[in-house]
Amino acid sequence: MSTTYTGPLLSVQDLTIEVRGDDGPVRLVDGVTFDVHQDEVFALVGESGSGKSLTVLAIMDLLPPGVRIASGRILFRGRDLAQLPEAEMRRLRGKDLAMVFQDPMSALNPLQRVGRQLAEAVKLHASGLNRKQTADKVHSLLAAVGVPDPQGRAASYPHQWSGGMRQRAMIAMAMAHDPGLLIADEPTTALDVTVQAQVMDVLAEARRRAGSAMILITHDLGLVAEAADRVAVMYSGRVVETAGVHQLFSSPAHPYTAGLLASVLGEGTAGERAFAIPGSPPAAAERPAGCAFQPRCHLGSGRDKCTAARPLLTLLPTPPSSAEGAAQPQGMAHPDGAAHPGGRAAACHFAGESTLQLLKGQPV
Ligand SMILES: Nc1ncnc2c1ncn2[C@@H]1O[C@H](COP(=O)(O)OP(=O)(O)OP(=O)(O)O)[C@@H](O)[C@H]1O
Ligand code: SF4
Ligand SMILES: [Mg+2]
Repeated sequence: MSTTYTGPLLSVQDLTIEVRGDDGPVRLVDGVTFDVHQDEVFALVGESGSGKSLTVLAIMDLLPPGVRIASGRILFRGRDLAQLPEAEMRRLRGKDLAMVFQDPMSALNPLQRVGRQLAEAVKLHASGLNRKQTADKVHSLLAAVGVPDPQGRAASYPHQWSGGMRQRAMIAMAMAHDPGLLIADEPTTALDVTVQAQVMDVLAEARRRAGSAMILITHDLGLVAEAADRVAVMYSGRVVETAGVHQLFSSPAHPYTAGLLASVLGEGTAGERAFAIPGSPPAAAERPAGCAFQPRCHLGSGRDKCTAARPLLTLLPTPPSSAEGAAQPQGMAHPDGAAHPGGRAAACHFAGESTLQLLKGQPV
């Protein structure tokens, strides 16, 4: 790729992913659009089943059998991954694009020593290294993620490692070639609370050292607040809001985002039940024609506009006084063709100021 390329590191544009259903194709991911810029941590959040994992699996070209990209573009350094031949994708995967999964055991071979597996990952994209150089690289990767006694530990099997240590090994493997983009799908969810923070620290340090951008998928909004620069909120296969992390937490533009925040940041007193968004997301095959959130949205209830028309991702103005808005990367492209001036977009007929008015119980 030409060194003059100045666009976003990753640009996912109108990505639609389908699975074959009894009555025809079912859209599991529907028109997802977002950019990830060099060095930034971009979080994907949303309830279970909203399409977060499928979106990143599509980026990695690791969609499960029967699930396919129906349309859209996935530009990585300006090249469309959705159009790359499999051999080209294999060259990128593990080198410039790497992924850490929720369960390291799903990625580690239980019958092979950890050091051997790391050595294979190293050699895959650095075949010129001799045995000693490869071993040295494996040990330094393990040391970099805080594994004590790397030589000794490399000779043991995954089941001899604790969950936290196995996740460190996965991070070491993902970082073997200093990827431009690291994808972490719920990297700490399977771990004890006590080791979650340590593993997040290791992940953050590893990506900083390599200068990688990161897509972080998590249910933990506290983690998002701590670790992310920008966030996309997904609901029922669609992005409903994209914003800088500060903006998202201080003034959510979409009622679903506001509900998610209220459910974790609820002001309930001790003993009071925390706020929960009523109901559950629709199954992909039963997504309503208008706004997919309408059956659960107290603002959309009784509004014809919400049941009749699907709101498209709309660009929202960023207040000029917002320091974070000023620091947002420029030029995010959207399906409507407009540039994204402040890194903020939402899909709600009443997004922006009017949503906030509605949330405060004022008429619009
Ligand atoms: N192999 C598959 N075949 C059919 N449907 C699938 C398949 N994999 C995922 N889905 C469906 O696609 C939708 C999105 O799934 P996905 O795994 O991306 O959700 P998610 O946001 O990652 O959820 P979670 O937070 O639970 O990991 C869900 O409705 C899921 O049931
Ligand atoms: S479009 Fe209507 S139903 Fe959907 S989130 Fe906005 S107000 Fe609620
Ligand atoms: Mg998932």
